[in-house]
Amino acid sequence: MRVLGIETSCDETSAAVLEGTGDQVRLASLVILSQDVHRIFGGVVPEIASRAHLTAIVPVVQRALADADTNAIDAVTVTNAPGLVGALLVGVSYAKAFAFARGIPVLGVHHMEGHLFATALEHPGAVPPFTALLVSGGHTMLLDVEAWGRYRLLGRTRDDAAGEAFDKVAKLLGLPYPGGPHLERLAATSDGGRYRFARPMVRRDQTPADADFYDLSFSGLKTAVLNAVKGADAALDADRAAIARAFQDSLIDTLVEKTARAARQFGRDRVVLGGGVACNRALASAMRARFEDRGVRVFAPAPRFATDNAAMIARAGLFHLERGERSSLDLNAFASQPIPGLVAA
Ligand code: KG4
Ligand code: ZN
Repeated sequence: MRVLGIETSCDETSAAVLEGTGDQVRLASLVILSQDVHRIFGGVVPEIASRAHLTAIVPVVQRALADADTNAIDAVTVTNAPGLVGALLVGVSYAKAFAFARGIPVLGVHHMEGHLFATALEHPGAVPPFTALLVSGGHTMLLDVEAWGRYRLLGRTRDDAAGEAFDKVAKLLGLPYPGGPHLERLAATSDGGRYRFARPMVRRDQTPADADFYDLSFSGLKTAVLNAVKGADAALDADRAAIARAFQDSLIDTLVEKTARAARQFGRDRVVLGGGVACNRALASAMRARFEDRGVRVFAPAPRFATDNAAMIARAGLFHLERGERSSLDLNAFASQPIPGLVAA
């Protein structure tokens, strides 16, 4: 089956062509157009994002078809939740029109399920069963993936998403938006010096029965950084890198600890990272360091599969299409929706 994937949930207009069956797939093309305009505003402006998707969607899809060197598409898959509704609607409307005009099926895909499939696009070993940590600008989720389509949601952030925490702290440190990559570069120049922040929601006496055993929280850490920045005052320039490093260490330690708890409890020997924050090399190497002598393999996606892209939507969509699932032409977009296939925790 050859599938067209479309992703417009936030500030990337993306289209991809994927062909194959089961876990044997080949990515024929992937086009990602990032909307740089939001940098000026220091965050994504929903109305501007919708308009930019509208201008970009036709050429982006045409380019994906041209790169794949084919016009023969068997089905269209499109992100329809969660995300910015106006942005999602551009992709959803286009996908429905494309499918109707060609008389082929259309299928709505959950954006976070796409992130779960993304790493498998380049690492054939990143398939279930595995422990998944999805860390993006809008979401932070820890899942046990027993099989494709069967997900146990173990923990999530109670406030800021991991990427959001990176972006807000980067802003406090005077770095451009989106701050994640800038903060990682700054942190790499320091060992943290005299700064150390507590690891949020990590206590030794926690047990799986505790509600915060897997849950995460980053707003207290953000406040601790704010206080440190204020305290650093005149010395800020010299201290910025140390604060960045101490923040990143705290956040990464927390993510590694919670992921290790999940892998241990479910006896998984694979850990799959996904979402934009999975671009962070310090995160991937801290995970590898923690797991290497336990026989657990850690899979981190390349940046183009970590951040929002249509290949992951086509990949997740193909799985559902092969199970006979289809959407109808009244497919709608939703700002939030639980990931499909949840089983009791
Ligand atoms: O998955 P994504 O592209 O979009 C959402 O679905 O949210 O994730 C974007 C997020 C941003 O918060 C960005 O700062 C963060 O991923 N990010 C990083 C790095 N690269 C991107 N965070 C930390 N370190 C990085 N190298
Ligand atoms: Zn995303």
